[in-house]
Amino acid sequence: MSESKSSSSVLENPADARVLKVAILGFGTVGASVARILCDVQPRGLELTHIFNRNVARKRVDWLSCPVMWSEDAEQVLHSDAGIIVELAGGLDPAGKWIRTALEAGKSVVTANKKLIAAHGVELEQLAASRGGQLLYGAAVAGGIPVIPGLRQGLAGDKCNRIEGILNGTCNFILSKMEAGAEFAEALQEAQRLGFAEADPTEDVAGYDARAKLTILSRIALGAEIEFEQVPAGSIVPIGAIDFAYARELKCTIRQISRAQLSSESSGAGTGIPRVQATVGPMLVPEASPFAWSRGTENMVIVTGKYGGDTVFSGHGAGGHPTAVAVVSDLMAMAHGSRAVAVASQRATVTGDLSLRHYIRFIVKDRPGIVAEIAGGLARQGINIGALLQRPGYPEDRLPFVVTVEPCSTSALKRALDEVGKLDCLIEAPLQLQILEPESPIG
Ligand SMILES: NC(=O)c1ccc[n+]([C@@H]2O[C@H](COP(=O)([O-])OP(=O)(O)OC[C@H]3O[C@@H](n4cnc5c(N)ncnc54)[C@H](OP(=O)(O)O)[C@@H]3O)[C@@H](O)[C@H]2O)c1
Repeated sequence: MSESKSSSSVLENPADARVLKVAILGFGTVGASVARILCDVQPRGLELTHIFNRNVARKRVDWLSCPVMWSEDAEQVLHSDAGIIVELAGGLDPAGKWIRTALEAGKSVVTANKKLIAAHGVELEQLAASRGGQLLYGAAVAGGIPVIPGLRQGLAGDKCNRIEGILNGTCNFILSKMEAGAEFAEALQEAQRLGFAEADPTEDVAGYDARAKLTILSRIALGAEIEFEQVPAGSIVPIGAIDFAYARELKCTIRQISRAQLSSESSGAGTGIPRVQATVGPMLVPEASPFAWSRGTENMVIVTGKYGGDTVFSGHGAGGHPTAVAVVSDLMAMAHGSRAVAVASQRATVTGDLSLRHYIRFIVKDRPGIVAEIAGGLARQGINIGALLQRPGYPEDRLPFVVTVEPCSTSALKRALDEVGKLDCLIEAPLQLQILEPESPIG
């Protein structure tokens, strides 16, 4: 194996002056921050040698501390003497093709690409192992928070059965602004102005970004390989100021929560295929929950282990510098010859069905008998109302009120709301949110 291609430790012998050459593909927010940290920290055993980007001339900077080859030819960089390829362009293609080419050549790869790892992580890790390289992606979930290394090293000795988290900083920023009184559109605009939200925020607000991350965590924490399209994702767009007012009355607030837990039932008689209860969406969280303390673009992940109990990770889940810290940490782990603990995982099926209390907000044109009709529809599915809340001061032709229901399956509630949703008094479709209990049952 040539010196520059070796991804085993270059630091085992302090007298060993070999370095691993590093090529960055994608010199955007994170790529530039990685280069900045490498130049600043100058980690032993690593040398930045190549930077690739399309139209590279406009990307050149004058602060690099070492000679670097700037290129707009990906193949040239992939076939260079760089031993580690750092993929920071994002997206499935051509990033996936570049990573496969690098791994096939026996190089190691570091990436922050959650989309690609959620969709093809298993296959790419197998490819890396078969060619003697490594694939690390500590930055792919929760940016600068070491959740993935924490799971792979610090918690590898536990048997994790549940993972819950605030995995999308954009949604957390918007919802914590709304908690402080802003309307959704205003909070979104501010997030866009500050660079926390894309011009098209769908990936974030609809929960798609978070469920890609949940898919990755499910595999690493629970050993369960799930397909992200199977995870039900709820949007934060229908949440209004009124929901925060009612949540407060219930001593709760609202956060976008991603949640996966191993079910005690397998996927079918005798199949032995594990089943994962997984869902992403806005939920009511008790004010006493650590999730309620998470504000702005922060991320937070709580891992529940059979032996170790709850472990909380929190911090900056995104941004160039925090994310680059995770990338550089992966690079340094490679330079030090650390091998991630191999994750034993198997295919699992997903169900979004969880037995939890729910919050249901109705907006109606008032008339006698509405509550009895709603209660009837719920009762026909065996669902009991826990509380009824109606704040004064709203017009009778657009009256918001809330019912909370005792723990019931998501599917029974959907059937009830399909029926109740046909009532002529409804001005808009009922909004239902799960209520996250501190001790939400496992299994
Ligand atoms: N930003 C964060 O906070 C964050 C957090 C966690 C993970 N990540 C992940 O990190 C990765 C990079 O994110 P980022 O925020 O740094 O994105 P970014 O600012 O858009 O940077 C991507 C860079 O890659 C270049 N690029 C994209 N496609 C290319 C192609 N086909 N050929 C050549 N160059 C290409 C872009 O060039 P142009 O300038 O020409 O478009 C840009 O310079 C993504 O996978 C993202 O999901 C980001």
